[in-house]
Amino acid sequence: MTQALHKLATDILQINDRGSYTVPTKGLYPFQWNWDSCLTALGQRHFDPARALTEIETLFAHQWPCGMVPHIIFHLRDEGYFPGPDVWDCGRPVPTSGITQPPVAGFALRRLLDSAPDLRMRARPLLDRITAWHRWFHATRDPKGTGLVALIHPWESGRDNSVDWDVPFERVPTSGIAPYTRRDTQHADPAHRPTKDQYDRYIWLVERFRGLGWATEKLHDASPFQVVDPGFNAILIRSCLDLADLAEDLGAPDIAAANRGFAHAGLQALEHLWSEARGQYLCLDRTTGALIDSPSSGGLLPVFAPIPQDKAARIAATIDGHGTQYRVASHAPGTPGFDAQRYWRGPVWLVVNYMIADGLDRAGESAAAIAITRSSLDLIGSSGFAEYYDPLTGQPLGGGQFTWTAAMVLEFLSGARRSMGNDTSA
Ligand code: GLC
Repeated sequence: MTQALHKLATDILQINDRGSYTVPTKGLYPFQWNWDSCLTALGQRHFDPARALTEIETLFAHQWPCGMVPHIIFHLRDEGYFPGPDVWDCGRPVPTSGITQPPVAGFALRRLLDSAPDLRMRARPLLDRITAWHRWFHATRDPKGTGLVALIHPWESGRDNSVDWDVPFERVPTSGIAPYTRRDTQHADPAHRPTKDQYDRYIWLVERFRGLGWATEKLHDASPFQVVDPGFNAILIRSCLDLADLAEDLGAPDIAAANRGFAHAGLQALEHLWSEARGQYLCLDRTTGALIDSPSSGGLLPVFAPIPQDKAARIAATIDGHGTQYRVASHAPGTPGFDAQRYWRGPVWLVVNYMIADGLDRAGESAAAIAITRSSLDLIGSSGFAEYYDPLTGQPLGGGQFTWTAAMVLEFLSGARRSMGNDTSA
């Protein structure tokens, strides 16, 4: 069973491999996505570590001079995706989008190099590049120096249509946008995808930023949407810490110090987003200064960073309390907005499971981590390598043969072997 899953997962990574980058799945997502690639590299490291490093190198070859790393790289033309390069119109040699995605590269690079130390010298330039991205975040997305960075578009979160964005999204207009045709609903069931109203607002923001010439230092203040996502910040903090460790090993003390400084400030500020009532962290609407009372997986993800032990234990209990057959629901079942089948408003995503399980394990909450690992592998066994899953029934949803789902399976399988005491892989 394990060997069969391993082979299936490896096959999917190879089917979606385009040479120097991997598409999330063909049809629905025909380009390179930022955090998909970094997490994909973790799967590739199990059979081709050098190819895994290429995945991250390719992403960073398209970093903007300001330090921003785009959320999509449009390597080839493909009319099957909207909004494509002409809508973004960022003026890059190889077209990219103009917003970013969760900065998981520092974490992924460290994990890759832990199992492939011979690649360390080749990877050395990435330390500077990733640090430039982290600096960019703090300079442009935390202009007042609070310690936490804000998102200016929901797609930056990676949790595109989470309930978290509903209230702040009300401030984003829908009028005046150019007519457009969605493509996602031609590849996937419209009942599982974001609504038209949400899509209009996504596009309004893109047009607003494009109107400012994608001058990234101007966009935060110009955006009616400024949300501090605890999950996103936790990923940044963890990446800063992992990169700092790598930098110390590779004799780059300045890089280490800069990243530790960001992580330290972030960890302190994160505690202001804790909700005792919800037993998890919450998003902050920076334009109003209010917490957004929406219990999503974004508020469970902080366990991926070294948060206080009591908070990690509460997060484990909160996940148990969801009571779903499969964990981790992307929104707390039974609360307003929960929808078991609609994209990030309820379904289970294996990448989020992986980061939460990793954090719980590090925090000593190993039973909770194992429960998530088992649940993830059960889902694959019963429903295949889907993009996401219904937490109540396990029904596979969205795209199939999904790259990062396959990558996470390889990671979970190696972790499961480790916890059984017979690790044979990285
Ligand atoms: C969706 C997800 C996003 C992911 C992308 C490609 O947009 O919400 O997180 O990066 O698909 O898989």
